[in-house]
Amino acid sequence: RKLVGKITTGSRNFDELLGGGMETQAIVELYGEFGSGKTQVAHQLAVNVQLPPELGGLNGSAIIIDTENTFRPERISQMVMGLRAIDDREWRPEDFLKNIHVARAYNSNHQILLAESAMELAESLRETEHPVRLLIVDSVTAHFRAEYVGRGTLADRQQKLNKHLHDLMRFADLNNALILVTNQVMAKPDTFFGDPTKPVGGHVLGHTATFRVYLRKSKGDKRIARLVDSPSMPDGEAVFSVTMEGLRD
Ligand code: GTP
Ligand code: MG
Repeated sequence: RKLVGKITTGSRNFDELLGGGMETQAIVELYGEFGSGKTQVAHQLAVNVQLPPELGGLNGSAIIIDTENTFRPERISQMVMGLRAIDDREWRPEDFLKNIHVARAYNSNHQILLAESAMELAESLRETEHPVRLLIVDSVTAHFRAEYVGRGTLADRQQKLNKHLHDLMRFADLNNALILVTNQVMAKPDTFFGDPTKPVGGHVLGHTATFRVYLRKSKGDKRIARLVDSPSMPDGEAVFSVTMEGLRD
């Protein structure tokens, strides 16, 4: 069994909540309203996974399955430049961007296929200097939610989503990687999806995700992360900020 690796979020508070960062061989589900910072956290992890271990990384590379077209290379560049405040080296955005492999998913079936292709890509990078240690699916539920409408199709949707998550968990185990998935919750009660404080995927995600983190907005650039139902860590909350340089306390 491979040793679990940990990737810093950039915020000491957030790291401590998770027991020292986000773990490999696990699925972390980030859920919260629009603008709560899910995509920002995902961008930051795609940078931080590439850092050397002494700075909280794994010298790894990242794969992003982008379902909402929200990946921004310029935002990665800002975060890389922000590393200068942490460690005085000549960090270059292009060195980081080349280790982030982004694929746009056009629908849920395509998303499932991309997760399968990710397995092949990870295999081809396994013996390189930057093996894949992070797979992001942002958002994991948006296509499923849009495509499966009406109660009759709910079981079908859950079954497909379940299989997809199973593929992702396998990826995590085979590659000693962290799987980071995002999932939106509605600000207003949603008559179809029910309880607005519960994530769209409902119980299926609940059983698979090792760490479930609920994000919400606070004052200004502050965000609150709440760890929910973790098997190894006590439930609790952490405050962090989304700054121009990236995630910080
Ligand atoms: P949905 O995908 O719509 O569900 O939202 P999300 O949870 O992914 O939110 P996202 O991570 O996109 O957060 C958007 C918020 O992050 C913005 O309202 C800003 O507060 C902050 N943000 C986004 N880009 C920047 C940036 O370049 N600089 C800074 N300082 N903040 C940013
Ligand atoms: Mg987003």
